[in-house]
Amino acid sequence: MKLLHDKIMQEGKVLSSSVLKVDSFLNHQIDPMLMKEIGHEFANRFSDQVITKVLTIESSGIAPSVMLGLEIGAPVVFARKRKSLTLSDNLFSSKVHSFTKNETNDISVSRSFLNEDDNVLIIDDFLANGEAVKGLLDIAAQAGAHVVGVGIVIEKGFQNGGKLLREQGVRVESLAIVDSLEDGKVTFAPEADA
Ligand code: G4P
Repeated sequence: MKLLHDKIMQEGKVLSSSVLKVDSFLNHQIDPMLMKEIGHEFANRFSDQVITKVLTIESSGIAPSVMLGLEIGAPVVFARKRKSLTLSDNLFSSKVHSFTKNETNDISVSRSFLNEDDNVLIIDDFLANGEAVKGLLDIAAQAGAHVVGVGIVIEKGFQNGGKLLREQGVRVESLAIVDSLEDGKVTFAPEADA
C-alpha cells in the first residue's frame, strides 16, 4: 500500500534492527485520513468474504479496525488486556506472551460479542512473532466462530509470526511488509510494493 509505505519512510523511526517506531500516525498520535484508507484497503482485500465481525486487541488495533468496520458495516470487538470494571466473568480468554516485552498477559472478550454464527476478520497494527494474533485465533475458536483471515497494518517479515500463521493455512494480508531494519534503514518486501 503505497500511502502507508510513504508514511513509514517519511515518519517511521528505526529504533534498532528489530523495532520500528511509528507513533506519529499509528501507535500514539493517529492519522485518521491514513486510517480511513487503511480501512478501505482491508475491505478491498477481503471483499470476497462475508465478514460479520472485526476482532482486534487494544489499543493500537482499534483505529484501523473501526475504519474497516465503518466501511463494511460490521461491529468491531477488541480484546481487553486488563480486567474491566464492567466486564463480567462471562469471558473468552487467552494468554498472550510478548517476546518483545518478555511478559504474558491475559486477554479477554465477552461471550456476548462473539459466537458460532460469526465470520471474523482479525486485525492488528503490528505482526512480529504472531502471539497476539494466536491469542485472538484462540478466542475465536472458543466462540466457535469462523475466521476468514488476518489483516495487518505492518508486518515485520524478518520475524516469524507471518510465516507461522501462513504455514497453518491462515490467510494473512499485510499492508506493508518490512523486510529489514538493518543500518537504520527500512526495506520493504517486494510483494508489498505492488
Ligand atoms: P506479537 O504479538 O506479534 O508476538 O508481537 P510482540 O509480542 O513482539 O509485540 C508486543 C507489542 O509490541 C504489541 O503492541 C506489538 O504491536 C508491538 N510491536 C512489536 N514490534 C513492534 C515494532 O517494531 N514497532 C512498534 N511500534 N510496535 C511493535 P502492544 O504492546 O499490544 O501495544 P499497543 O497495541 O497497546 O500499542
